[in-house]
Amino acid sequence: VGSVTGLVDVMGCEWMQYEYGSALMVPDLPGSFNMWRYEMLLPVGDGPVRYPLPVGGTPLLSAPALRRTLGTPRLWIKDETRSPSASNKDRATALVIEDGLQRGVSTITTASTGNAAVSTAFGAAAAGIRAVIFVSSDCQPEKLALMTQAGAWVFQVPEGYAAAVDLSRAAARTFGWLDRNTGVNPVTIEAKKTVAFEVWEQLGRRMPDVMIAPVGDGPTLVALDKGFSELVSCGLATRQPRLIGVQAERCQPLVRAWLGEAAKPAELDPAATVADGIAVVRPAIGDAVLEVMRRGHGGMVAVSDDALLRAVTTLAGRAGVGAEPAGAAALAGLEVAIECGLVDRLETMVLLVTGREVKAGGAPTDPRRVNMAETLDAVERVLADDS
Ligand SMILES: Cc1ncc(COP(=O)(O)O)c(C=O)c1O
Repeated sequence: VGSVTGLVDVMGCEWMQYEYGSALMVPDLPGSFNMWRYEMLLPVGDGPVRYPLPVGGTPLLSAPALRRTLGTPRLWIKDETRSPSASNKDRATALVIEDGLQRGVSTITTASTGNAAVSTAFGAAAAGIRAVIFVSSDCQPEKLALMTQAGAWVFQVPEGYAAAVDLSRAAARTFGWLDRNTGVNPVTIEAKKTVAFEVWEQLGRRMPDVMIAPVGDGPTLVALDKGFSELVSCGLATRQPRLIGVQAERCQPLVRAWLGEAAKPAELDPAATVADGIAVVRPAIGDAVLEVMRRGHGGMVAVSDDALLRAVTTLAGRAGVGAEPAGAAALAGLEVAIECGLVDRLETMVLLVTGREVKAGGAPTDPRRVNMAETLDAVERVLADDS
């Protein structure tokens, strides 16, 4: 089992280091294609994994009809919508909760634009711990319903997502809760890097030329870079793929920073885009995203809401993959990247499809579990009833 040998700072984002060499020894057993097969490069303890939901091992689809439509014969879709709560957030949730279970923690908290919250609520429910979630007040009602059905306590923060992150982190510090806030907890990067290991294995132990992913707070993209770079450190590959990050035109702080232009307020409105999952004005590890971009030879592109909605339809109609707009951003981004010469149609390319629209069945949202909060006192008052 992997042992962490140190931490390296990548522009404010902590990267765990391991003994590389031939560290990535993976079992060749039926049924072992899941996130835990990479335990040599994960911060997990000895002994059996306690986290009870399946995680990782998502399909890499060859999408023949989509290949024909786009004229991209070596396109692949890494379909993270097949995760237990339908988004790539389940990897980070699993590893953070596993770490918490080892340490006997009984409450987990996170702020979220929606998917990390749903994932945390379900993961906590399965693991038998309490989830306390902070979201902005415009979080989708469907996602709120899913969180409360899974038994989470949800706080809506009127000043938006950035304030929700601050409150969740303050609560973690003050009450000793497990902090799953994306990017802040380095374990979230460790979990998400396993996507890179899986893609490499699924391509027959080969690197793609380019991988395209949506960018909100940044961990998904930064973790891909870390995973691919660890394969090189292990001597299993000689080069990393280029990475292309995709943001929504109406909320594109990192595209602007990458292009070196001043951000315009109209383009930083999280409520203005259909891609709520990636509508982040102050990305948690934005500097690390830009550093990863500078080191590689990829790029950042912005896509319109129309293009995102078209990508949802195309993924459904040409690949049989259901995605929400943020989850389909890689396809919209590919079209822009081809147009502006960042990607050649004949390259081996992987689109990371990160999330699917989910519908809450059952009873409507329990109003006692959803409250407004601006302060820790307000949070404490509500939770005092949780006996
Ligand atoms: C569907 C979806 N895709 C992509 C992302 C972006 O991930 P990150 O915050 O790691 O950049 C999110 C984040 O919430 C998301 O919900």
